[in-house]
Amino acid sequence: MPTARSNILKIQPYEPGRPMDDVKRALGLRSVIKLASNENPIGPSPKAVRAIKKFLGEIHRYPDGGSYYLLERLAQHLKLSKKQIIFGNGSNEIIELASRAYLREGDEVVLAEPSFLVYKLVAQAVGAKQVTVPLKEFWYDLEAMAEKVSKRTRIVYIANPDNPTGSYVTAEKLGRFLKKVSSDTLVILDEAYWEFVDADDFPKSFRYLKQGNVLILRTFSKAYGLAGLRIGYGIASPAIIDALHRTRQPFNVNSVAQTAAAAALKDKDHLKKTRTVVRKGKEFWYRELDRMGLEYIPTQANFILVNVRQSGTALFQQLLRRGIIIRDMKAYGLDQFVRITIGTQEENRRCVRALQERD
Ligand SMILES: Cc1ncc(COP(=O)(O)O)c(C=O)c1O
Repeated sequence: MPTARSNILKIQPYEPGRPMDDVKRALGLRSVIKLASNENPIGPSPKAVRAIKKFLGEIHRYPDGGSYYLLERLAQHLKLSKKQIIFGNGSNEIIELASRAYLREGDEVVLAEPSFLVYKLVAQAVGAKQVTVPLKEFWYDLEAMAEKVSKRTRIVYIANPDNPTGSYVTAEKLGRFLKKVSSDTLVILDEAYWEFVDADDFPKSFRYLKQGNVLILRTFSKAYGLAGLRIGYGIASPAIIDALHRTRQPFNVNSVAQTAAAAALKDKDHLKKTRTVVRKGKEFWYRELDRMGLEYIPTQANFILVNVRQSGTALFQQLLRRGIIIRDMKAYGLDQFVRITIGTQEENRRCVRALQERD
């Protein structure tokens, strides 16, 4: 039997939120709500859905390997050059492309703990050494991270806003951090939840592109509601984007995703509605959690990390039996916490009720 490399066998596989159909079937439930994977509460843009339906007769063709049309649209939208953008099969793929392009076995990466688990997975897959820096009161400690960056550090990962905490790195702190880090180190600024941010001191990350060592990640999975199609993008200097292109498969982004993303980008109304639902949902959750006396981390994203002062796994199981899927945080080392995605108002109410009635 062939044996996989030892670092691969040590990887703890990523556990996604449980699918709704699976929960319905297993528990014999008629109505299940999923507040576990930070998806868009109001669904995809109707414009994207119409565009896909119209396009379906074309799926016998390979996709446009350069995402030409979408690239034009997005470059215009962001006021960037096409050479500064690359698409991926979700922004997750770009995290992987970066590790393939920049990491060798034994290289160091600096990351916060806990933070988005995929950074660890890709580093482990290439056998890179992970230098982890604990969060400080649930916030990234960029000063401590800067101290850990050495000549051997090839990549630093910063989720901004962070998952699972929803906290963020301010413009001032990020600016100071980037000044300290060598221009040979790639700094990945993962902005998957950027569209939900309302903090005034959140960094305008494009201004750091000229440093030449920053890779910004964004996605159509969250605010644009296209998680199932898998499409995200990276923004960086033309040299970095060129390196990433060399490591990707020729048809890494499927044609349905490209079509949907181009249509979703034009649907300003849907984006606005999404933001409003999330903002109002956030206010509702803060109020209700305060009322229940449960502590939470103020969030800049579309989810909230809540300290439930009991086993998060047990609470997850309890809510599951009532048809509500949330995320327990054991895999992140936060045993007494759960992460709840902000849903529609009806979903939020149902979840709050279940929390009020918990054992
Ligand atoms: C911080 C962070 N980055 C990236 C992603 C991945 O997004 P995508 O669906 O674009 O691969 C997620 C998804 O949960 C996330 O939380």
